[in-house]
Amino acid sequence: MKGVILAGGLGKRLRPLTLVTNKHLLPVYDRPMIYYPIECLLNAGIDEILIVTGGEHAGDFLKLLKNGKDLGVRHLEYAYQEGEGGIADALKLAEEFADGGKVCVILGDNLIEGNIRKAVGDFFTQKAGAKVLLKEVEDPERFGVVRMEGNRVVEIVEKPADPPSNLAVTGIYFYDQDVFGICQTLKPSGRGELEITDVNNAYLQRGDLTYEVLEGWWTDAGTFESLHRASCWVAEGGANHLDMMGRASRPATVKY
Ligand code: G1P
Repeated sequence: MKGVILAGGLGKRLRPLTLVTNKHLLPVYDRPMIYYPIECLLNAGIDEILIVTGGEHAGDFLKLLKNGKDLGVRHLEYAYQEGEGGIADALKLAEEFADGGKVCVILGDNLIEGNIRKAVGDFFTQKAGAKVLLKEVEDPERFGVVRMEGNRVVEIVEKPADPPSNLAVTGIYFYDQDVFGICQTLKPSGRGELEITDVNNAYLQRGDLTYEVLEGWWTDAGTFESLHRASCWVAEGGANHLDMMGRASRPATVKY
């Protein structure tokens, strides 16, 4: 399976820091933020990676990551997103890279303590459709949130004022090749973006969305509060991150 890291956007919630660099190049404790989603994919046996970015600082990704070999990435590609069309708009740029296969998509500001290897394996054997990873949070109104009936997800609501549960949809998603057709049908939301939640709801309506609840801690790092939390959690030794040479701490033995 191939991996796609979405690392565009203006990072408005982290201004003024993001006036001079891309959000995903900011430090999370002792590493650039982008190292963590790369490591998450490598630890799950995914070493063919596309980074979708944009804006004025896109070139800095090349300076940092080069061809990815030092980090253990077997094949690294880059795509450039024009404008600020949202997560699902950025994902459209991955169509050729995916080449008709399944993809694991991770938002560049998402950090996890654990390993998604089991979810990758499960989706590898899932016939078709999509999978999302959920996590209980204290502030669900900041995220896409699931409405459950029993153990079934019946709806995902983006940034609900009145959250139907405290289970957030993390920024780690699995899709089959239909995702690109679905992205083409989307209309911009109130914030003027193509929403990944609309993609996930489209799969849900087809009865083709599975989920797993993520073990260990998870956080985004797109606000000052969450960036600080991410740095603290990493500093406390909870994250399994790339070492000084950029090697994954728990390299996967099985490749997908
Ligand atoms: C995005 C998604 C949201 C998801 C979150 C995870 O939010 O829209 O559904 O829960 O990422 O990090 P954003 O970071 O764009 O506010």
